[in-house]
Amino acid sequence: MRLNSALTFIFLFVSAALSGPLREKDQSWVPNLVKKSTNGASDDVYYNYLLAGAYWEETNGTFTFATATFNVPVPSGQHGYAVWVGIDGITCNSWFTAGISSSVTDGKITYLAWSEWADDKQYLPNLAIAPGDVIRASLNAPSATSGVAILENLTNGRTVVQPFDAAQPLCRRIAAWSAEIQANASIPFDTVKITNARAYGPSSQRVYEAAGAQKLEISQKNGVVMASVSTEGSSVTIHRVQ
Ligand SMILES: *[C@@H]1O[C@H](CO)[C@@H](O)[C@H](O)[C@H]1NC(C)=O
Ligand SMILES: *[C@@H]1O[C@H](CO)[C@@H](O)[C@H](O)[C@H]1NC(C)=O
Ligand SMILES: *[C@@H]1O[C@H](CO)[C@@H](O)[C@H](O)[C@H]1NC(C)=O
Repeated sequence: MRLNSALTFIFLFVSAALSGPLREKDQSWVPNLVKKSTNGASDDVYYNYLLAGAYWEETNGTFTFATATFNVPVPSGQHGYAVWVGIDGITCNSWFTAGISSSVTDGKITYLAWSEWADDKQYLPNLAIAPGDVIRASLNAPSATSGVAILENLTNGRTVVQPFDAAQPLCRRIAAWSAEIQANASIPFDTVKITNARAYGPSSQRVYEAAGAQKLEISQKNGVVMASVSTEGSSVTIHRVQ
């Protein structure tokens, strides 16, 4: 059950990214996902070759808002990566995400801000990104079919808002914070730290933080972890292991 859920999650986000800034067009892939034994711990860990981060899964309608803060990544090596906040995926066949991507072409690094709701992918060129900027990405989905993605440069206070309307219905039962690499590439960072990772619902009665969420770690060979994840309070820390 969990495995199927997580496979769907990987599938949806990978499909979503196929035409995106990070992924080559028509790149073929097969998720290779392994659930790590957690000896009864509640925060299960799943290995895969693409995503490192944390997510909560509750019931439909739980999440109407998700947010996190992170630095603009300077990739090391030949590949870029993305950092994003998401609502849904996993057991829901729609999703809403916002974040930033870096890519490397002939040694030149470019940065991009974007958001997407299912197949509707929007680039946000008005938020020119510079390495070292502190970015906050937030998603507000007051209804299942409309909402706004908000990307802010906290370094200078500039904000870009991308509305979505009459979009493919969300379930609003997943909240996720993640770094995404190019499939099977080496890990292009030492550490990604996502902070202020929070999500809540219409009543705001419970604020979900990163601590206690399920984890996604990157492993390209079964059991050999390349990027590990730890959570504490509202922080998700992703480390290159090798
Ligand atoms: C990545 O590696 C996995 C596991 O070895 C493999 O199944 C998959 O096809 C690879 N994907 C890409 C896009 O190279
Ligand atoms: C963010 O703010 C810093 C400081 O003002 C600036 O150097 C950088 O270019 C800004 N980036 C964006 C996205 O506007
Ligand atoms: C959750 O929401 C989705 C999308 O609207 C819907 O397809 C699904 O049936 C809902 N599930 C439950 C258990 O209500």
